[in-house]
Amino acid sequence: MDRSRDVRDRTKKPIFPADFQWGVATSAFQLEGSPNADWATWDPVLGDIPQITNHFALFREDLKLLKELGVNAYRFSIEWSRIQPREDTWDGEAITHYQEIIDILRSYNIEPMVTLHHFTNPRWFLERSPWHRFASIEKFLRYTEMMVSTLRNVRYWITFNEPYVILIGGYLDGCTPPGFRDVPRSLVALQNIFTCHGKAYDLIHRYVPDAQVSVAHNMSVFAPWKKWNPLDRLLKKSANYFYNHSIINAFRTGVFIVKFPFSREVEIEVPIKGKLDFFGVNYYTRVHLRFNPFKKMGVELRYADIDGHGLTNLGWEIHPRGLAKVLRYASRLDVPIIITENGIAAFDSEEKVKYMKRHVDIVERCLKDGLDVRGYYYWTLIDNYEWLQGLDARFGLYRVDFKTLKRSPTSAATYYSYLIQSRSKI
Ligand code: GAL
Repeated sequence: MDRSRDVRDRTKKPIFPADFQWGVATSAFQLEGSPNADWATWDPVLGDIPQITNHFALFREDLKLLKELGVNAYRFSIEWSRIQPREDTWDGEAITHYQEIIDILRSYNIEPMVTLHHFTNPRWFLERSPWHRFASIEKFLRYTEMMVSTLRNVRYWITFNEPYVILIGGYLDGCTPPGFRDVPRSLVALQNIFTCHGKAYDLIHRYVPDAQVSVAHNMSVFAPWKKWNPLDRLLKKSANYFYNHSIINAFRTGVFIVKFPFSREVEIEVPIKGKLDFFGVNYYTRVHLRFNPFKKMGVELRYADIDGHGLTNLGWEIHPRGLAKVLRYASRLDVPIIITENGIAAFDSEEKVKYMKRHVDIVERCLKDGLDVRGYYYWTLIDNYEWLQGLDARFGLYRVDFKTLKRSPTSAATYYSYLIQSRSKI
């Protein structure tokens, strides 16, 4: 790997504090599937690759990779459908499995960050009480209580990964379970999911008084497709408000103000005011918006290589400056910020190196500007299943040969270790 471009890393004074969390993030289902999860049958591709990377069996070897990388934090999710395969069945072995992961991480001095819900639901939950039903709250809280009362040695908890993505995919676009395109139901689901967060926050603190609890919120930068087009500009304004700011306001006030373009404003009360110990930000890209009356809600999403950094395997624009923007938005919450996901789908691992360096440079600049950023988690450890895209996205620091399941380091893995060492204060 050519490190000449980073010579300045070795000579300048490191500014990342010694306790900064350098991590990687994963989700259980994307690594190993789960026969009782709603997604197992949702995406037909999964019928041919039910175990994906077989991390469920190979987790001990995979956790060694974390040690090899030199990270001090690891975000992973618990697959609810393994813990509670049927509504009346708790699987003790599955709970022991996750405890073993935590114990191994602790023995490596790696801080675990546990995500309770990362997109997938048990099939029974989806059939009986999806998020637009009031009963979903009690079901999720029972699962949460089982986890916080049994798992030991976890301080960092994420209740929901990307709640807005659950709502957009499952209730507005319809591309993910439960597959609705139904604005009124999406608003009820929003209220139920955030009610779960608020109540789960209290529950987690009851069992783990020094817990650090958040959601991992997907933030993006938006731009009008054509600056001269007032409709494109209106879409940009609405999207930026809804996607980035409405959740921040709701955590400050306990009220979501939802205003979709061309429809009236709705206020939804949720018990989440102040229920946040840090704010988890997932950041990937900038999205251009184009008004198109033939598309759902009149919006067409577009990506363009404006900065000249290129597009990822998934066609997303690489836009590092956007990270500074969303971190600044997030700082309005007055709680520490952790970047709970950032990464790139690329076959060429040098692209990953560049992406990582550019984004970490931005984090460094934000620290210098006084933003309270406490961690950076790269998405992701090994190649995995990408939602609705299959196995070709290639986000991993380690490449997986999906025939032999062999893991091999990419140059981005080596680079990440180097970055952690060279940027941190001792
Ligand atoms: C995030 C999601 C992850 C992963 C990533 C890359 O939105 O939380 O599960 O899929 O995107 O696309």
